[in-house]
Amino acid sequence: MACRDTFRKRAASAWVIQSAGSIVLGFLWVDFVNVFCATFKMLHASSGNHAPRMNKVLDAPQPSLFAPAHTHPRGLMQDVEPYYETPSGAAYLGDSRELLRALPDGSVNLAFTSPPYALHFKKEYGNVCKADYVEWFLPFAREVHRVLTDDGSFVLNIGGSWNQGTPTRSLYHYKLMIALVEDLGFHLAQECYWYNPAKMPVPAEWVTVRRVRIKDSVEHVWWLSKTPFPKADNRQVLRPYSADMLRLAQRGVKTTVRPSGHNITSSFDKIESGGSIPSNVLEDKIANEMLIAGNNSANDVYTMRCKESGMKIHPARFPAALPEFFVKMLTDDGDLVLDPFAGSNTAGAVAERLGRRWVAMELLDEYLEASKFRFGQ
Ligand SMILES: C[S@@+](CC[C@H](N)C(=O)[O-])C[C@H]1O[C@@H](n2cnc3c(N)ncnc32)[C@H](O)[C@@H]1O
Repeated sequence: MACRDTFRKRAASAWVIQSAGSIVLGFLWVDFVNVFCATFKMLHASSGNHAPRMNKVLDAPQPSLFAPAHTHPRGLMQDVEPYYETPSGAAYLGDSRELLRALPDGSVNLAFTSPPYALHFKKEYGNVCKADYVEWFLPFAREVHRVLTDDGSFVLNIGGSWNQGTPTRSLYHYKLMIALVEDLGFHLAQECYWYNPAKMPVPAEWVTVRRVRIKDSVEHVWWLSKTPFPKADNRQVLRPYSADMLRLAQRGVKTTVRPSGHNITSSFDKIESGGSIPSNVLEDKIANEMLIAGNNSANDVYTMRCKESGMKIHPARFPAALPEFFVKMLTDDGDLVLDPFAGSNTAGAVAERLGRRWVAMELLDEYLEASKFRFGQ
């Protein structure tokens, strides 16, 4: 009897162990299938990040496996309340050195900004002096590097400056560029320039009084990236062909060799590509063509509403065409654009209009308050 009981107990335990084993094997199989699919998707998704964008469909951003594709930016900023938000973005009041810490690693596709420049005369929003500029800026830039996606870009609009007392130029912005590349590991994708003929002829002593220097009309727009192959597509910013170019195309181009040695072949007469490739000098002409609602004209909505309500107009806005050019070339629909020195939030308004998400950070509440006008608030 005892022997039969023991046998029954052993058979029962064997059955329990076998069933448990099958269940575990079942789970392991499901896990294996999940991991296999996930790895396949991940490899497929990352393969487009290492080469310049060539094909819109193949290289379209792949949805993340573990997060919703388009989280509202409010959901990305941990434990910080936005000052205001829109359907695609959120604006935060405070020191961006602190605020940036709330953004997760690798969450931003494009950081586009114009920080306070180093100037002789302090502006109301606290420019630092040239000698301290690099040290002041690097903590912001370190955070920007952290929050960028691997194929993301950091586009920095920065003005030059004169040395005090002599008609010579400061090197402060070049020193910054070298530190960004050599100390923080950014790559210099390309130097671009914003041609701004509306700049004042200063310093008056050298330019208009002694007449020994000429008017400075460009600002640097440095396109930096986290890897050598940031996501970019110049077909998104093609310019209309000039009348000369169209005439040439009608007549056809003779195969010839330029004095520089470049071959001009008949392939130059193909103009079906939809426009000419823009240069790295962003002229006012381009700005005017691209401008939908100019933000430094006297009659755009932002300026008019500031005037009507007696609010301060931001004194150092960039034209909407500047962020618009880079947002179009460097991001896709739904990507995240960050401006950590947002001022009147020109970049956020451009991102919203172009169907991108955005995060703006600004130190002074009067600027952020007035920036709501850009969103009809
Ligand atoms: C050149 S303006 C940017 C203007 C902006 N691009 C526009 O179109 O309106 C620089 C802005 O950075 C802000 N700023 C300065 N230090 C800051 C900081 N630590 N955190 C956030 N914003 C800051 C200033 O108040 C100023 O509005």
